[in-house]
Amino acid sequence: MDDPAASVTVCEDGPLLLRGQFTLLTQDGEEVDPGRRTVALCRCGRSAIKPFCDGTHKMVGFQAPSAPTGERPLSGASASPPAPRSDD
Ligand code: FES
Repeated sequence: MDDPAASVTVCEDGPLLLRGQFTLLTQDGEEVDPGRRTVALCRCGRSAIKPFCDGTHKMVGFQAPSAPTGERPLSGASASPPAPRSDD
């Protein structure tokens, strides 16, 4: 049976849980072996095993909601997304 499409769950005060059929890539397009079918990606910036979560968010008291807290700007975002892959 095929894996379901990928989903990302934003955990309150914690990581992003990535499940389903996905490919994890570096910014340069190199594939990263996630080692498992569900991975937790760090969003607190304090993990020692980035991009994966190692639980440090709990020790540092990271706080962030699960749901969006406001409107996203239509343009002028502060960070540029990575360049699209050639097969996108
Ligand atoms: S979100 Fe878990 S260590 Fe950063």
